[in-house]
Amino acid sequence: MKAKASAALQALPEGVLRPADYERHARAALPPQAWDYFSAHAGDGHTARANAAAWDAIALLPRVLRDLRGVDTRTELLGRSLPWPVLVAPMALQRLAHPDGERAMALAASALGAGFVLGSQASMSIESVAAAFEPAAGRGPFWFQLYLLPDRGATMALVRRAEAAGCEALVLTVDAAVRTARRLQLPPGVGTVNLPDDACPPGSLQELLARAPTWDDVAWLRSQTRLPLLLKGVLHPADAREAVRQGVDGLIVSNHGGRVLDGAAATAAALPGIVDAVAGSVPLVVDGGIRQGTDVLKALALGARAVLVGRPVLWGLATAGAAGAAHVLRLLRDELELAMAQCGAGSLAELSRDVLQADSHRV
Ligand SMILES: Cc1cc2nc3c(=O)[nH]c(=O)nc-3n(C[C@H](O)[C@H](O)[C@H](O)COP(=O)(O)O)c2cc1C
Repeated sequence: MKAKASAALQALPEGVLRPADYERHARAALPPQAWDYFSAHAGDGHTARANAAAWDAIALLPRVLRDLRGVDTRTELLGRSLPWPVLVAPMALQRLAHPDGERAMALAASALGAGFVLGSQASMSIESVAAAFEPAAGRGPFWFQLYLLPDRGATMALVRRAEAAGCEALVLTVDAAVRTARRLQLPPGVGTVNLPDDACPPGSLQELLARAPTWDDVAWLRSQTRLPLLLKGVLHPADAREAVRQGVDGLIVSNHGGRVLDGAAATAAALPGIVDAVAGSVPLVVDGGIRQGTDVLKALALGARAVLVGRPVLWGLATAGAAGAAHVLRLLRDELELAMAQCGAGSLAELSRDVLQADSHRV
């Protein structure tokens, strides 16, 4: 791991013009084991590749000669305004990328007006990360992601800490019926500091399945907190409809960046079915393979309200700490503004499937 450095002063690499340019810098900066963990995918990586390819396959039909004075990226989500529709995805163990870990990532997000979803498998305490997510005017939302732990008391202890730390919504990740620990040798001092030691007890497949969460657990969690509740990892329209029936406040269309089930649909391909299924009853967020501003625009044109960005911000963090992650977000925001202008959209509300070439999004 690199020596501790003042995150804000860390130099940015030369010649970085696109978020994806950070990938090679991160690879060079990280020990091989950390790189392997961040870039891991299920199976042979088909879904991880398909995520990015599916955004690429959607073709835009730009509009010309419109009055574009004041392109505005603001949107609204769960009753509050967002400066722009991007949040940092929950990702475990960010101190493997940089000693300043989740705190540096939160600082970067708040400086750029992006939202931040703190993962329950974070390597820094909920409270210290919340403090780093500056309560600056115009900051994005601060959400907390959790898995249902085998012990409801332990789950609730996490929820109460997130509430007390000022988290604005809970994200329950539901895309892994069975969670198996990745074989990862953690360096000394790096661990999932917010979780009890027995959060992911080993067992046979039958034992793991016997304690896999169900819709009853969602209903239970819904009844335990006043925070808005989003389910992360929904791809099937029938599950989206059930989630709405259960009273969840939003859905995150996600396949976990292709890390859980190889062969799962690319999120850009699954999104239209979910949009149709929920018919505007709850807001949708999507993630997986978002690598440039045009991908954000395409997601919104398909009907998402916002997107999560995963690996690209980790690459920035690994390369240059908070400054690197902030630079990735800055590049994305600039690209989004430019893409809106090229597509003739002065505001995000003007985006619709009309800007997408017919059928190019049915990949
Ligand atoms: C290193 C890493 C760790 C992750 N850890 C979690 C996690 O703890 N909880 C979770 O819900 N999603 C987790 N994810 C999935 C992300 O939240 C997100 O769905 C995915 O990375 C988006 O795809 P992208 O990386 O292509 O942008 C993780 C992803 C990565 C790359």
